[in-house]
Amino acid sequence: MKSHITIALPKGSRALAPTLKLLSSIGINPVEDISRSRKLVFDTNRAGLKLMILRGMDVATYVEHGIADLGMTGKDVLLEHGGDGFYEPLDLGILKCRIMVAGLKNEGELPPRLKIATKFINIARRYYAEKGVQVDIIKLYGAMELAPVTGLANRIVDIVETGDTLKANGLVSMALIVDISTRLIVNKVSFKTRYSIVQPLIEALAEVTR
Ligand code: PRP
Repeated sequence: MKSHITIALPKGSRALAPTLKLLSSIGINPVEDISRSRKLVFDTNRAGLKLMILRGMDVATYVEHGIADLGMTGKDVLLEHGGDGFYEPLDLGILKCRIMVAGLKNEGELPPRLKIATKFINIARRYYAEKGVQVDIIKLYGAMELAPVTGLANRIVDIVETGDTLKANGLVSMALIVDISTRLIVNKVSFKTRYSIVQPLIEALAEVTR
């Protein structure tokens, strides 16, 4: 068994900064400035505890496979990723946003079978399946708001935080699919075999996010 504990965090300044702040509030700090480094694994001031910096979706994968013992990533990622190799013991209450259906403010006549552009194809598929509505899903990787504007799709399923991006592109929210925030996830095996280290970490994070 590996001797150290690894916590996987999402890269990108917007996602990384608040997760590092949370860790710092329970006394865990990387020994070097992550934002100034191209490295992907960092030692911390706590012996035997490392941080791994990954794309949000990969945080779930690394924790599911037990390469990382714990991870912090968005509920959007967890819903889209699926999988049952990890527990989700804590809502960290940071990076709150929503996954919404949105469309053009003046949509005009719609076809009987809507085209939905999204990077959350599983979430979108489940949402429309539960409503019993048949749609065509178009996978995009970013700039979702452009799809209804250009006619690529009728509507989008996307993250809305302030609503500014929708507004700036002439779109409006039409339905809430799910509220999102960053969650703590723990590999199921690590939770059992490394309980004496993992459980105090969960408790400390619960304390500062209460
Ligand atoms: C997300 C999302 C929207 C925007 C919403 O994009 O896809 O475009 O944020 O935020 P707002 O409601 O505050 O305007 P992000 O910047 O994360 O980039 P992405 O294209 O990688 O999704």
